[in-house]
Amino acid sequence: MKIGILTVSDRGSKGEYIDQSGPLIAQIMQTRMSSWTISHQAIIPDEFETIVQTLRQWCDEGVNLILTSGGTGFAPRDVTPEATRQVIERETPGIAEALRAESLKITRHAMLSRAVAGIRGQTLIINLPGSPKAVRENLDVLLPVLPHALDLLVGAAGTEKQHRTV
Ligand code: MTE
Repeated sequence: MKIGILTVSDRGSKGEYIDQSGPLIAQIMQTRMSSWTISHQAIIPDEFETIVQTLRQWCDEGVNLILTSGGTGFAPRDVTPEATRQVIERETPGIAEALRAESLKITRHAMLSRAVAGIRGQTLIINLPGSPKAVRENLDVLLPVLPHALDLLVGAAGTEKQHRTV
Protein backbone atom coordinates (compact mmCIF):
# COMPACT_ATOMS: atom_id res chain seq x y z
CA MET A 1 0.00 0.00 0.00
CA LYS A 2 1.24 3.48 -0.87
CA ILE A 3 0.31 6.26 1.52
CA GLY A 4 0.29 10.02 0.92
CA ILE A 5 0.27 12.53 3.77
CA LEU A 6 -0.88 16.03 2.86
CA THR A 7 -0.76 18.87 5.37
CA VAL A 8 -2.97 21.78 4.31
CA SER A 9 -1.91 24.97 6.05
CA ASP A 10 -1.11 28.50 4.88
CA ARG A 11 1.32 29.16 7.71
CA GLY A 12 2.92 25.73 7.56
CA SER A 13 3.49 26.02 3.80
CA LYS A 14 5.25 29.38 4.32
CA GLY A 15 7.46 27.95 7.02
CA GLU A 16 5.91 30.25 9.66
CA TYR A 17 5.48 27.28 11.94
CA ILE A 18 6.79 23.77 11.92
CA ASP A 19 4.16 21.27 10.88
CA GLN A 20 3.76 18.66 13.59
CA SER A 21 0.72 16.82 12.27
CA GLY A 22 2.23 15.54 9.01
CA PRO A 23 5.26 14.02 10.75
CA LEU A 24 2.99 12.62 13.48
CA ILE A 25 0.79 10.87 10.90
CA ALA A 26 3.94 9.49 9.27
CA GLN A 27 5.28 8.24 12.58
CA ILE A 28 2.00 6.56 13.56
CA MET A 29 1.58 4.93 10.15
CA GLN A 30 5.17 3.67 10.15
CA THR A 31 4.70 2.19 13.60
CA ARG A 32 1.24 0.70 13.24
CA MET A 33 1.07 -0.05 9.50
CA SER A 34 4.69 -1.01 9.04
CA SER A 35 4.22 -2.93 5.79
CA TRP A 36 2.78 0.16 4.07
CA THR A 37 5.00 2.75 2.40
CA ILE A 38 4.78 6.51 2.74
CA SER A 39 5.38 7.43 -0.90
CA HIS A 40 4.17 11.05 -0.88
CA GLN A 41 4.31 13.81 1.73
CA ALA A 42 3.80 17.57 1.31
CA ILE A 43 2.68 20.79 2.94
CA ILE A 44 0.54 23.06 0.78
CA PRO A 45 -1.45 26.27 1.42
CA ASP A 46 -5.22 26.41 1.91
CA GLU A 47 -5.78 27.02 -1.82
CA PHE A 48 -8.68 25.13 -3.38
CA GLU A 49 -6.99 24.56 -6.75
CA THR A 50 -3.67 23.52 -5.22
CA ILE A 51 -5.39 20.96 -3.03
CA VAL A 52 -7.42 19.59 -5.95
CA GLN A 53 -4.37 19.34 -8.23
CA THR A 54 -2.23 17.68 -5.58
CA LEU A 55 -4.90 15.11 -4.71
CA ARG A 56 -5.52 14.32 -8.40
CA GLN A 57 -1.81 13.97 -9.10
CA TRP A 58 -1.22 11.65 -6.15
CA CYS A 59 -4.22 9.52 -7.19
CA ASP A 60 -2.82 9.30 -10.73
CA GLU A 61 0.55 8.28 -9.29
CA GLY A 62 -1.01 5.26 -7.62
CA VAL A 63 -1.27 6.32 -3.99
CA ASN A 64 -3.80 4.03 -2.29
CA LEU A 65 -4.50 6.12 0.80
CA ILE A 66 -4.25 9.91 1.17
CA LEU A 67 -4.57 11.36 4.66
CA THR A 68 -4.99 15.12 4.69
CA SER A 69 -4.57 17.21 7.82
CA GLY A 70 -6.06 20.64 8.41
CA GLY A 71 -8.44 23.04 6.73
CA THR A 72 -11.63 21.28 7.82
CA GLY A 73 -12.95 23.91 10.22
CA PHE A 74 -14.95 27.12 9.84
CA ALA A 75 -12.23 29.66 9.00
CA PRO A 76 -12.81 31.36 5.63
CA ARG A 77 -9.79 29.64 4.08
CA ASP A 78 -10.71 26.15 5.37
CA VAL A 79 -11.54 24.50 2.03
CA THR A 80 -10.04 21.02 2.31
CA PRO A 81 -13.48 19.29 2.34
CA GLU A 82 -14.67 21.20 -0.73
CA ALA A 83 -11.47 20.38 -2.63
CA THR A 84 -11.73 16.73 -1.60
CA ARG A 85 -15.35 16.57 -2.82
CA GLN A 86 -14.18 17.93 -6.17
CA VAL A 87 -11.76 15.01 -6.53
CA ILE A 88 -13.63 12.00 -5.18
CA GLU A 89 -16.05 9.92 -7.23
CA ARG A 90 -17.72 8.07 -4.37
CA GLU A 91 -18.15 9.55 -0.90
CA THR A 92 -17.56 7.23 2.08
CA PRO A 93 -19.68 9.00 4.70
CA GLY A 94 -19.35 6.27 7.30
CA ILE A 95 -15.70 7.12 7.82
CA ALA A 96 -16.33 10.81 8.49
CA GLU A 97 -19.37 9.96 10.63
CA ALA A 98 -17.36 7.52 12.75
CA LEU A 99 -14.48 9.95 13.21
CA ARG A 100 -16.83 12.70 14.36
CA ALA A 101 -18.91 10.39 16.56
CA GLU A 102 -15.88 8.99 18.40
CA SER A 103 -14.25 12.42 18.61
CA LEU A 104 -17.41 13.89 20.14
CA LYS A 105 -16.85 11.57 23.10
CA ILE A 106 -13.57 13.43 23.67
CA THR A 107 -14.46 17.04 22.75
CA ARG A 108 -17.63 18.86 21.74
CA HIS A 109 -15.43 20.80 19.31
CA ALA A 110 -15.44 17.69 17.10
CA MET A 111 -18.75 18.91 15.67
CA LEU A 112 -16.79 21.76 14.10
CA SER A 113 -14.95 19.41 11.78
CA ARG A 114 -16.41 19.41 8.25
CA ALA A 115 -14.09 16.57 7.19
CA VAL A 116 -15.13 14.27 4.35
CA ALA A 117 -13.81 10.97 3.01
CA GLY A 118 -14.19 9.29 -0.34
CA ILE A 119 -12.80 7.23 -3.17
CA ARG A 120 -11.26 8.21 -6.48
CA GLY A 121 -10.34 5.18 -8.57
CA GLN A 122 -8.22 3.05 -6.27
CA THR A 123 -7.42 5.82 -3.83
CA LEU A 124 -9.14 6.42 -0.51
CA ILE A 125 -8.90 10.05 0.62
CA ILE A 126 -9.64 10.93 4.24
CA ASN A 127 -9.63 14.42 5.79
CA LEU A 128 -8.27 14.72 9.32
CA PRO A 129 -8.32 17.87 11.45
CA GLY A 130 -5.16 19.92 11.82
CA SER A 131 -4.06 19.62 15.43
CA PRO A 132 -1.69 16.81 16.46
CA LYS A 133 -4.06 15.87 19.28
CA ALA A 134 -6.98 15.52 16.87
CA VAL A 135 -4.82 13.60 14.39
CA ARG A 136 -3.86 11.06 17.03
CA GLU A 137 -7.44 10.64 18.24
CA ASN A 138 -8.81 10.24 14.72
CA LEU A 139 -6.15 7.71 13.69
CA ASP A 140 -6.97 5.62 16.75
CA VAL A 141 -10.50 5.24 15.37
CA LEU A 142 -9.46 4.81 11.76
CA LEU A 143 -6.52 2.44 11.81
CA PRO A 144 -8.30 -0.77 12.85
CA VAL A 145 -10.61 -0.47 9.84
CA LEU A 146 -8.13 0.68 7.18
CA PRO A 147 -6.65 -2.70 6.17
CA HIS A 148 -10.10 -4.10 5.33
CA ALA A 149 -11.14 -0.88 3.59
CA LEU A 150 -8.06 -0.90 1.37
CA ASP A 151 -8.30 -4.64 0.71
CA LEU A 152 -11.81 -4.07 -0.61
CA LEU A 153 -10.76 -1.08 -2.69
CA VAL A 154 -7.53 -2.34 -4.17
CA GLY A 155 -8.59 -6.00 -4.23
CA ALA A 156 -11.48 -5.01 -6.48
CA ALA A 157 -9.04 -3.92 -9.21
CA GLY A 158 -9.69 -5.71 -12.45
CA THR A 159 -13.18 -6.85 -11.52
CA GLU A 160 -14.49 -3.34 -11.02
CA LYS A 161 -14.82 -1.06 -14.01
CA GLN A 162 -12.81 2.06 -13.22
CA HIS A 163 -15.04 4.95 -14.12
CA ARG A 164 -13.80 8.51 -13.66
CA THR A 165 -16.58 11.00 -13.74
CA VAL A 166 -14.84 13.96 -12.11
N1 MTE B 1 -11.38 15.91 16.75
C1 MTE B 1 -10.71 15.34 17.75
N2 MTE B 1 -10.73 14.00 17.87
N3 MTE B 1 -9.99 16.07 18.66
C2 MTE B 1 -9.95 17.44 18.58
O1 MTE B 1 -9.26 18.05 19.41
N4 MTE B 1 -10.66 19.43 17.31
C3 MTE B 1 -11.81 20.01 16.61
C4 MTE B 1 -12.29 19.20 15.42
N5 MTE B 1 -12.07 17.79 15.58
C5 MTE B 1 -10.66 18.07 17.52
C6 MTE B 1 -11.38 17.24 16.61
C7 MTE B 1 -11.67 21.41 16.26
S1 MTE B 1 -11.31 22.47 17.55
C8 MTE B 1 -11.88 21.89 14.99
S2 MTE B 1 -11.98 23.55 14.67
C9 MTE B 1 -12.12 20.96 13.86
O2 MTE B 1 -11.72 19.64 14.22
C10 MTE B 1 -11.45 21.36 12.56
O3 MTE B 1 -10.05 21.40 12.68
P1 MTE B 1 -9.12 21.97 11.51
O4 MTE B 1 -9.66 23.31 11.12
O5 MTE B 1 -7.76 22.02 12.11
O6 MTE B 1 -9.18 21.02 10.35
